[in-house]
Amino acid sequence: MAAGLVLGPVVFGALAPGLHAQVFVPPSPTGLVAPGALAMQSTDFQTRRSEMTVLDKLVAAVTPSESDQARAEARAKAGILAAPGDWLCMVLDHHRDLEAAFAVVKAASSESTRVAAQRRLAILLTGHAIAEEAVLYPALAQLGEKRHAERAYDEQASVKMEMARLEKLASMSADYEEMLEHIRAAVVHHMFEEEGTWFLELKNRAPAAEQGRLGARYKQEFWRYVHGAESDSTCESRLADGV
Ligand SMILES: [Fe+2]
Repeated sequence: MAAGLVLGPVVFGALAPGLHAQVFVPPSPTGLVAPGALAMQSTDFQTRRSEMTVLDKLVAAVTPSESDQARAEARAKAGILAAPGDWLCMVLDHHRDLEAAFAVVKAASSESTRVAAQRRLAILLTGHAIAEEAVLYPALAQLGEKRHAERAYDEQASVKMEMARLEKLASMSADYEEMLEHIRAAVVHHMFEEEGTWFLELKNRAPAAEQGRLGARYKQEFWRYVHGAESDSTCESRLADGV
């Protein structure tokens, strides 16, 4: 498809001069586009920024935008299923930590505080993603929910690519703040999918013995990356070091 923008099975033609040559949005199983599923190739940031604006409008038009109330209800429902210290409890804690970390980056009033906050956000995001990708998504696929697992991997890969782009932007610029909000929206939507659907499937359907194993392995992977340790008994914390 060389003459239009592909949004899953939906094709938009003649959106803007040159836009079709610089943008590819991979199709999703549902035909909808995740907020983080945009891969931009332009080297001219002004061009890229105007593309983002156009694309964000398109994404908003075809992606279901859940309300804050829907997110709160999904989290409350997942919280009822979670037990203290189990994998779902840890995931929900980390989701709240991520929301707070995004807010700290946004609120930073100087370059040094923003850069430090961004590093902390990146460590949390990567540690959480590694633990989910190594432990929870495979378990979801093994329950027969391979489509959901694949979508989860795709969305987190998009966020990693966008975080790498964010690192290259001037941290106090409007471009940075626009990209940060774009990533935050993608992450929030991804967490809603996990809390509202995917992880409920895993919590409700995996056998009890497997639930315990998932918790131990999730914790192990998260701590190994975020704290450089196998458990919370030792810690040379990357979060504390800010590296
Ligand atoms: Fe998550």
